[in-house]
Amino acid sequence: MNNIKTKRLITSALPYVNNIPHLGNLIQMLSADVFARFCRSRGYETMYVCGTDEYGTATETKALQEKKTARELCDYYYAIHKDIYEWFDIAFDKFGRTSNEECTEITQSIFNDLDKNGFIKEHTSKQLFCPKCNMFLADRYVDGECPKCHAPDARGDQCDSCGTLLDPTQLLKPRCHTCGSTPEVRETKHLYIDLPSIAPKLEAWMEKASVEGKWSANAIQMTKAWIRDGLNERAITRDLKWGIPVPKAGYENKVFYVWFNAPIGYMSITKQLADEMKAAGKETFDWKKWWLPSESSEKMDGEIKLFQFIGKDNIPFHTVVFPCSEIGTGKDYTKLYHMSSTEFLNYEDGKFSKSKGVGVFGSDAKESGIPSDAWRFYIYYNRPENQDYQFTWKDFQEKYNKELIGNLGNLVNRTLLFINKNYSGKIPAGKKDEALWAQVLEHEKKATEHLEWAELKDAFHEIFAISDICNKAFQAAEPWKAVKTNKEVADNILYNLAYVIKDLMIMIQPYLPKYSQVVAGYLGHTIYDAHFGTPAKEGSLTWEDLGKMEGLDTISETSVYFTPLDNKAMEEFRAKFSGKQNEKKEEKQPKKQEKKAEPKEEKPALTPEQQIDFFNANIELRVAKITDIKPNPDGDKLYIETMDDGSGTPRTIQSGLRKYLTEAELLGKHVVIAANLAPRKMRGVESYGMLLAGDYTDENGKECVEVLDASWAAPGTKVVLEGSDVNAVKKAEISGDEFFSVAIEAKDGIVGIAGKKLLADGKEIKTTKALNGEIG
Ligand code: MF3
Ligand code: ZN
Repeated sequence: MNNIKTKRLITSALPYVNNIPHLGNLIQMLSADVFARFCRSRGYETMYVCGTDEYGTATETKALQEKKTARELCDYYYAIHKDIYEWFDIAFDKFGRTSNEECTEITQSIFNDLDKNGFIKEHTSKQLFCPKCNMFLADRYVDGECPKCHAPDARGDQCDSCGTLLDPTQLLKPRCHTCGSTPEVRETKHLYIDLPSIAPKLEAWMEKASVEGKWSANAIQMTKAWIRDGLNERAITRDLKWGIPVPKAGYENKVFYVWFNAPIGYMSITKQLADEMKAAGKETFDWKKWWLPSESSEKMDGEIKLFQFIGKDNIPFHTVVFPCSEIGTGKDYTKLYHMSSTEFLNYEDGKFSKSKGVGVFGSDAKESGIPSDAWRFYIYYNRPENQDYQFTWKDFQEKYNKELIGNLGNLVNRTLLFINKNYSGKIPAGKKDEALWAQVLEHEKKATEHLEWAELKDAFHEIFAISDICNKAFQAAEPWKAVKTNKEVADNILYNLAYVIKDLMIMIQPYLPKYSQVVAGYLGHTIYDAHFGTPAKEGSLTWEDLGKMEGLDTISETSVYFTPLDNKAMEEFRAKFSGKQNEKKEEKQPKKQEKKAEPKEEKPALTPEQQIDFFNANIELRVAKITDIKPNPDGDKLYIETMDDGSGTPRTIQSGLRKYLTEAELLGKHVVIAANLAPRKMRGVESYGMLLAGDYTDENGKECVEVLDASWAAPGTKVVLEGSDVNAVKKAEISGDEFFSVAIEAKDGIVGIAGKKLLADGKEIKTTKALNGEIG
């Protein structure tokens, strides 16, 4: 084994417990799994922890719906999650839960340190209180009449009928969601973490860490934007029952905000493992060795590097909020080293949708009859590292048949079958093919370098490049002829390829753990796969054994592992996973509930310079072509527009234009859209963005609307302010409030922000009728 001193602490985002994960959710865990397996094989002392994120409004609400206690609900879904991840062969050192006592203990201790250091502030705000339930009500726990469309059953955070975002105090005839009584407005107190005071230390840390740990450009950009725009104090308490108690007088009825304790879950799950081992009478370890080495009872030699795998929507929580909690304690908790944040995986021509049953869920994959390694192959081969990726069955079929079966599988099968058939299973002696090995080793080196930085997809492709080279070498040597005419040639190629296959199985083990062991088994070996509680087999092959030409002798009887997927099977899968007919009432994504549940921070209007900066850093406008348009049957104002936004994935946007424009007037138009607005549901249909338009009054006094036009620009063209960078990376998602904090205006027919023009392909965006006024 390598004698590498560095330790690798690996985490993947803790999945919300209250649902069944789909392929998009699985990417983080699958990614961390490959990296952890690689690190172990390479000889790093490794700890990979993950677990379910259990507290918060979403869980409480779901438990109410399912008539279970929050604890029961979590137990139920925890088992489902664990089961699915086991099926996918994710070798956690520990898959724990945030509702454990370790999490309470560590969260409270971190809070106490922050408080002691003066980083916790208390503020008073007005909130609805139910006298009967004797508690303050979180936004989603209030129902009432929508002040706008007068639907009778709007929720405190949003009206589902018209889509308006609400503050619970705006509801007409408010009712307590639990008991139906009328709540009253009362003053309440909440605790806030004082991020502005921690900011200087955060910034100093971030400047260094982001370079040393090679953070991705979008992570650096997003974090810097957060810091530059000024960090705000963030509320860390909530009026809920299902959460971690706040150890402070006056807060007996409140709990910590789920996002405050969730990342601390990484620590607590490590401790959970240590505690369990101790309880089982096993030799255990001190969790602080990983997370707070300066206070650990165990001596550490070597540095700990923390690698975190998350989706792009979780970046600021991992680069700003969590590090601030750590820094504010004044203790040197292990902080983020390298972050591997992925883009989104979309399904067929839309998003995965839990409530509609659209997409492939962990449980479906399990029942599909397709081996887990085939799913793993597809996800890693297409891991959305630089841009969103679209899962389609067609693509699955093609890549799987062509690469996994046609390339790697083919090399393994033909080589081993040939040796079995022509050499009675005895690998012939031969001469090392220096030219072939030079190429193989070059790709192995590159794959290793990529893996060191968790560039999993690139490394995977290097591995397939090796099998491609070897297939060509097999083809060129024509051993089926040579075995009769020039045996030495046949001996040599099979001798060399048998050893390359050994290397390939070592390298592919992190990706395809089952398949690699099966093939290694044919060669009489096993590949190293130790993790906590699961020791490796004596003599199993590690990364150290790459390139070694020794230890192979005979081959056992082989059989085919991956069978091709035909069109018929694909059609059946597509039909099965395309969504249930009767669409259930959409559940809001938990993340959004959490965001919304936060007390609103009053934002002063932005100065012109701030608007320009804010726009440049956050708001993404693009040209899109309307390729299809139809009315929303459940609303009299809305069109459902399908757009080509240049991404290759059709986008759905709804706009309230039916009163003003006909379908024919809009179809085929190149319009300007706000592309990174958080999706929102309107009249039963999700809308991904907004189409920009201005209004005017015609000569008859009629209210009219003009849609911004960019007929010269191709779909996908970025619409930017003059003088700014067309390729700037924008925030992944912004709220409606953020979008409207910048005023886009027409002035004498020229559209711009704070006096600067908006351009598409260098050309200004003009209006011909809505000459002056707000564009939105
Ligand atoms: N549960 C969150 C989500 O699915 C992720 C939490 S990551 C954590 O978006 F580390 F902060 F827990
Ligand atoms: Zn009540």
